[in-house]
Amino acid sequence: MSDVSEVLVYNKDNPFPAVISENRILNKEGSDKDTRHVVVNVAGIGHRYNIGDSLGVFATNERAKVDAILACCGFTGDERVILPKVEGKVRIADALSSNLTLSQPARKFLDSLRGKVTDDDERVHLETLTDPENRDEMKEYLLNREFHDILEEHPSARFDPQELVGQMRRLNPRLYSIASSSLVFPEEVHLTVAPVRYTTNDRERRGVCSTFLSDRAELSSTKVPVFVSHSHFGLPEDDDTDIIMVGPGTGIAPFRAFLQEREKKGAKGRNWLFFGDRSEATDYLYGDEFEAWLSSGLLHRVDLAFSRDQDYKIYVQDRIREQAAELWAWIRDGACLYVCGDAKRMAKDVDNALRDLLMKEGGMSETEAADMIKVMKKERRYQRDIY
Ligand SMILES: Cc1cc2nc3c(=O)[nH]c(=O)nc-3n(C[C@H](O)[C@H](O)[C@H](O)COP(=O)(O)OP(=O)(O)OC[C@H]3O[C@@H](n4cnc5c(N)ncnc54)[C@H](O)[C@@H]3O)c2cc1C
Ligand SMILES: NC(=O)c1ccc[n+]([C@@H]2O[C@H](COP(=O)([O-])OP(=O)(O)OC[C@H]3O[C@@H](n4cnc5c(N)ncnc54)[C@H](OP(=O)(O)O)[C@@H]3O)[C@@H](O)[C@H]2O)c1
Repeated sequence: MSDVSEVLVYNKDNPFPAVISENRILNKEGSDKDTRHVVVNVAGIGHRYNIGDSLGVFATNERAKVDAILACCGFTGDERVILPKVEGKVRIADALSSNLTLSQPARKFLDSLRGKVTDDDERVHLETLTDPENRDEMKEYLLNREFHDILEEHPSARFDPQELVGQMRRLNPRLYSIASSSLVFPEEVHLTVAPVRYTTNDRERRGVCSTFLSDRAELSSTKVPVFVSHSHFGLPEDDDTDIIMVGPGTGIAPFRAFLQEREKKGAKGRNWLFFGDRSEATDYLYGDEFEAWLSSGLLHRVDLAFSRDQDYKIYVQDRIREQAAELWAWIRDGACLYVCGDAKRMAKDVDNALRDLLMKEGGMSETEAADMIKVMKKERRYQRDIY
């Protein structure tokens, strides 16, 4: 008998089989948004997560889409296929469910399909679509369709199982900012998830992982393979350092964790939160918790920006501009600034507001303000977790 005890290390290559123990809508009745508080039970994962880390989640595709593809191709689901980086042969039904992306088909799929259809109308349609002169039309066609839509529109196509899976990209895990502190919840990871839902080609579409977490994973039973993705985003080492947190929408997630951790550690540094969403009455995510922390003194300030409570938009960067003098005093005295959430618009606008603040309140030129931002980033006094 060997006395060497085996230590299981869970990571991206060997994810931990977690279950979801809570899935609650954070928006109040009457909201036109749906943001979820998802609690993932990670008891047994064997290591702690740090503040600022994200949770990687491997989702499965919707069963109806898998079935639609199998039906279109005349497969039973038991046909075996070989996948890159996967050992042995896999049932095609399992590959379509767990390993492959069933949305965002590429042009090469249309090219391949052209050689697989036996119906003349279908072939002519594909020849027209893939004609270089019709590039824009083809792009638009692909943008609005998933694999099963295209197969349904070309019922005469006959693919070999291996050829079909060769057209699809790997299904990658998605990351979610962790919204809890492991000092407070050692066996749980809390997430703030916005289920992605939209319509194209008159069909309702659902983001794979966000709706796996919000709609398909059954509480306490569905195994959800997860791993902790470590990050450079995190609290200052010195608990006396003041922090300013800017996190509209799901961007609020890591700051709930920051505050839980700072409360638990009795950190003396002051905490200032900027949060924004659509409407105060329905979309003040974790509002009760933040108001309680404001009353207890853990939160020094909360500045809220509800974009749709008036007939013009108010965003977090507007609140930053309003509070420029006070913010400059905090930053000048060493506060760290954190931004989390939308990368495309919000983070850029907040960055501009910061630059303007340094110029207006700090008396800097545009170049000096840009240099100061660089220095703050280098010294990890300005950190962003944006997506
Ligand atoms: C570090 C990090 C932290 C993150 N933290 C969080 C978090 O705390 N909470 C959170 O909710 N998310 C977070 N995300 C985003 C998350 O990882 C996923 O990207 C998100 O949930 C969407 O994944 P999905 O699988 O549900 O959607 P997918 O299946 O990947 O679908 C998304 C795709 O759908 C298409 N699409 C979306 N909307 C439309 C539309 N209106 N019209 C046409 N096409 C559209 C786009 O091509 C888009 O890329 C984070 C990302 C990163 C990198
Ligand atoms: N990069 C991405 O692909 C990305 C990033 C984040 C979220 N999302 C998706 O968006 C959906 C909801 O996400 P969410 O709840 O996190 O956030 P959200 O709904 O996009 O936004 C939260 C708040 O930010 C406001 N906002 C819009 N533009 C802004 C800007 N330029 N600067 C500052 N604030 C701005 C919104 O106002 P208005 O809506 O009233 O304008 C709203 O009040 C989800 O489907 C999510 O997956 C996508």
